Amino acid sequence: MSLSQQSDGQSLPPSYFEQMYAADPDPWQFETSEYEAKKYAATLAALPKAYYRSALEIGGSIGVLTEKLAARCQSLLSLDVSEQAQARAKARCCDLSHVEFEIMQVPHQYPPRTFDLTLVSEVGYYWGWDDLPQAQQQIAQQLEPNGHLLLVHWTPYVEEYPLTGDQVHEAFLSQVGTLWRPLVSQREDRYRLDLLERL
Ligand SMILES: C[S@@+](CC[C@H](N)C(=O)[O-])C[C@H]1O[C@@H](n2cnc3c(N)ncnc32)[C@H](O)[C@@H]1O
Repeated sequence: MSLSQQSDGQSLPPSYFEQMYAADPDPWQFETSEYEAKKYAATLAALPKAYYRSALEIGGSIGVLTEKLAARCQSLLSLDVSEQAQARAKARCCDLSHVEFEIMQVPHQYPPRTFDLTLVSEVGYYWGWDDLPQAQQQIAQQLEPNGHLLLVHWTPYVEEYPLTGDQVHEAFLSQVGTLWRPLVSQREDRYRLDLLERL
């Protein structure tokens, strides 16, 4: 799929991301952007607990946020579909022995263990309507009671993304009362953040 091709409503495949990382090793300027640095600070500030025993990060990319999150976790598993991105994340976190990495395409693959924190930052809008419900189910199933789910997503429309950030957050918020208790909700100019606690 070319980068400019419009999505047909299905999740974007691993090849889409491998193509992006081949063209630019840091396509979203995670290492240098002031916007990202501020958003990462807000992301970590939204976490109610000082430390998490076992955290999961979906779509860890080149590991800039992974490295920061690692300071708040006893163990952290970071998943991505891109081998190229994850190689850079591994190099960045090579001194952090409590951080593990796996190539997995969520929700078609999911780690067979439970977590007390799952971070879904700037990755949910790459799922299509077909995969979003399964992703929601996997995330909820593998999160311990009172565990935290942190959602952070860009809100402006992006033509080639199957979903918008708002659609992702609203899908999880529609499960409030049955699966989740909302703890934090923030909307900024270009992104929104929701912290949900598993019932
Ligand atoms: C925009 S980056 C987000 C990086 C990081 N979470 C952050 O907030 O800075 C999205 C990453 O998600 C990965 N990704 C996309 N779809 C995925 C899926 N279904 N399962 C796991 N990772 C995925 C991409 O390869 C990419 O590295």
